[in-house]
Amino acid sequence: MTSPVSRPPATEPESADRIAAFEARIANGESIEPKDWMPEKYRQQLVRMMSQHAHSEVVGMLPEGNWITRAPSLRRKMILLSKVQDEAGHGLYIYCGTETLGVDRHELVEQLLSGKAKYSSIFNYPTITYADVGVIGWLVDGAAIVNQTVLAKASYGPYARAMIRICKEENFHKRQGFELVAHLSQDGTPEQKAMVQDAVDRWWWPSLMMFGPHDKDSPNSDSLLRWRVKRFTNDELRQRFINLTIPQARAVGLTVPDPDLVFNEETKNWETGPIDWDEFWRVVKGEGPCNRERLAARNKAHDEGAWVRAAATAYAEKHAHRKQTEAA
Ligand code: 3HC
Repeated sequence: MTSPVSRPPATEPESADRIAAFEARIANGESIEPKDWMPEKYRQQLVRMMSQHAHSEVVGMLPEGNWITRAPSLRRKMILLSKVQDEAGHGLYIYCGTETLGVDRHELVEQLLSGKAKYSSIFNYPTITYADVGVIGWLVDGAAIVNQTVLAKASYGPYARAMIRICKEENFHKRQGFELVAHLSQDGTPEQKAMVQDAVDRWWWPSLMMFGPHDKDSPNSDSLLRWRVKRFTNDELRQRFINLTIPQARAVGLTVPDPDLVFNEETKNWETGPIDWDEFWRVVKGEGPCNRERLAARNKAHDEGAWVRAAATAYAEKHAHRKQTEAA
């Protein structure tokens, strides 16, 4: 199937003056649009980050999709179905945004399917009980909102605009998750309360890892911050998420699995114990509990969708031919 034509950004050679003018636009708060001149490094960083983000949305359908057929009521099934469907839409939307940078999405999808591309570590953990659906909505979508609300002010226009729309839907995702968590933890049987606490125990640390490595180990942050793609560092956003989430956990009688957690009266921050970065890098490098399963599922879906792509291509060709004949 051919990809929609994507226009490569202006390709005039780089010069100190051009870079200075580009950076002045960014400092001035201007939005960079697809046809504008941009340094090649800026373009590459955006392709890297946006494609990883798109892949994350698509792979992110799998852990929860696992529960659609086993949702405990029609209401829960409808909520979960529409949430998972939203994630597919987010992925497609961000792939479109990435194509405005002159790459072909099929190339990006190929990188995902072959295991070459990264996607968020969080989606390589298993969903063991239905409480995981609530906890993912609350913690994982909650973390995504903290990260993506800021990206809605990113300097690259198509990405920022995609984030505005996506964050609206992520808010619904978080609310449905917290509502389920609150229901289980406050109105549930002792078994249900234990089930939701167990889910928090398993998802807490991986959710903190979503924000990426510590700032000192984040090679991409400097340029992304300078170009205002990122507005805050990984650690700053992680801290914001922790400060928002601990009071929510306490409000519904849940605890996070961190014996070192302490509130710092001076900074007004909740300070956590150390994050297991060895685990993080293992998962990022493909050795998490579900990395192989996730890639196998995406490859299977891609193979089984071949007939859909063939049919869409045939339809597009037929339509174009008819238009040509009518115009002649
Ligand atoms: N999982 C997998 N890889 C990660 C990661 C994570 N949680 N955090 C960082 N990495 C990778 C980076 O991609 C980078 O690898 P690369 O240089 O080979 O591309 C390396 O680790 C070093 O990290 P950096 O901090 O230097 O990378 P960034 O500056 O790009 O920061 C980020 C990482 C904070 C994830 C940033 O890229 C970002 O904000 N991305 C956009 C948002 C996004 O992709 N979110 C993923 C979750 S989507 C989601 O949650 C869907 C929702 O529906 C739930």
